[in-house]
Amino acid sequence: MKNFLDTANFNEIREAASTGLLDGVTTNPSLVAKENRPFKDIIKDICGIVKGDVSAEVTATDVEGMLSEGRELAKISDNVIVKVPLIKDGLIAVQRFSAEGIRCNVTLCFSPTQALLAAKAGAYIISPFIGRLDDISQTGMELISQIITIYRNYNFDTQVLVASIRNPVHVVESAMLGADIATMPYGVWTQLIKHPLTDIGLTRFLEDWKKVQAK
Ligand code: G3P
Repeated sequence: MKNFLDTANFNEIREAASTGLLDGVTTNPSLVAKENRPFKDIIKDICGIVKGDVSAEVTATDVEGMLSEGRELAKISDNVIVKVPLIKDGLIAVQRFSAEGIRCNVTLCFSPTQALLAAKAGAYIISPFIGRLDDISQTGMELISQIITIYRNYNFDTQVLVASIRNPVHVVESAMLGADIATMPYGVWTQLIKHPLTDIGLTRFLEDWKKVQAK
């Protein structure tokens, strides 16, 4: 499973990229709004350090507007994936982008029927939001399982990207279900590597080693 950061913050992306384990980045208008910098500059800077997929979202809600914004975003770098909302005009735009060779991440997916239509439209990535389903007392992970089954049944190439991840358990469950990508906030990314028993064990090893050297 590929691990992406869900952020537009350059420092977080640089820190994660320095591990050599960052596979890509997803952004959205809310994340970009936190940065107080021009959108295209943010995407350009991210693409300067991340060679994997970098999703940049259109804000138009009509087909022609999405096409116009998306074409401009795709020009920034070869690894820009145009993020399009899962609405009727979005699905029409995805088919047009696909015909032009522009790859799309279809976002704000909350149901298996939406995911099925996105795949039929030619989405490169589908982004089901699991945390927001959990927030309204639905089981977000169930949606991931349904989408993976449907895509396997019909050999769709569309990659399943688990979005709206809130904790490391979501990452584990995504991997166990065979999702293609998990995108997560920087805080969750840092939690993936940490375990208190690792820290306690290492401290003890190093203290014991000091005793050996003192002899
Ligand atoms: O980028 C889309 C998604 O991951 C947003 O997550 O936490 O705002 O529901 P969240």
